[in-house]
Amino acid sequence: MKVFDTIEDWRSFRAAAVGGIGFVPTLGGLHTGHAALVRRARVENEVAVVSIFLNPTQFNDAADLTRYPATLDADLTLLERLGVDAVLQPPPEAVYADGFRFKVEETAFSRELCGTHRPGHFTGVLTVVMKLLNLVRPQRTYFGEKDHQQLTLIRDMVETFFMDVTIVPCPTVRAADGLALSSRNALLDATGRRLAPKLHELLCSPGSDAEVAEALTEIGFAVDYVTTRQGRRLAAAALRCGDKAVRLIDNVHMDERG
Ligand code: PAF
Repeated sequence: MKVFDTIEDWRSFRAAAVGGIGFVPTLGGLHTGHAALVRRARVENEVAVVSIFLNPTQFNDAADLTRYPATLDADLTLLERLGVDAVLQPPPEAVYADGFRFKVEETAFSRELCGTHRPGHFTGVLTVVMKLLNLVRPQRTYFGEKDHQQLTLIRDMVETFFMDVTIVPCPTVRAADGLALSSRNALLDATGRRLAPKLHELLCSPGSDAEVAEALTEIGFAVDYVTTRQGRRLAAAALRCGDKAVRLIDNVHMDERG
């Protein structure tokens, strides 16, 4: 497995690469959910590439960025074990050599749901994904369905800008108790970890969105939203763990509702 710390070295590798590339972009802090995306990229493509880039522009809250779990050594060990060919791990100053002067901004759906609570978040996501796709030029790119709003916006961006890549949505990977796997789960304390699966459990319940929001609030979640869109019930809610709020998102298809 080759690890690239500079964009120049990556570009030389990319210029010589033979065969279709399957790409998994990540922020690091890898878990079993990422492993599922990587396994699929490995099986479906000649070359499997992963980026580890803790993208500063998608964190509207500086404290959120600082406490994002950084597990680089473990991440690289996992990726090597999964048979990844190349890891792109560029420094922020190389990715944002323009000082974030150029941005990809979506002006409708990105401002709803998570966008209401995290202003600028999706502009950071879309901009970095556009940059990474231009650098990697993959045939297929893999995203988890847990981040439904992100997946929808990236799909729309790829279509809008006539980008030559297939976006492959992958099912949410869950713990045995239903909690959607997320790097943020590492920030939950024991009480938070015990309550967290309730988010998925209630999303699957037959009640209305308002009833689910009320039930989550009663348990101790600070609810950003529970809503049904595009055939899915989507939610974001935070649990207070000590001095920090750990924000969780999840969604279920209508068929999964009781
Ligand atoms: O979902 C993520 O991990 C990030 O938002 C992504 C797509 C890697 C962009 O930084």
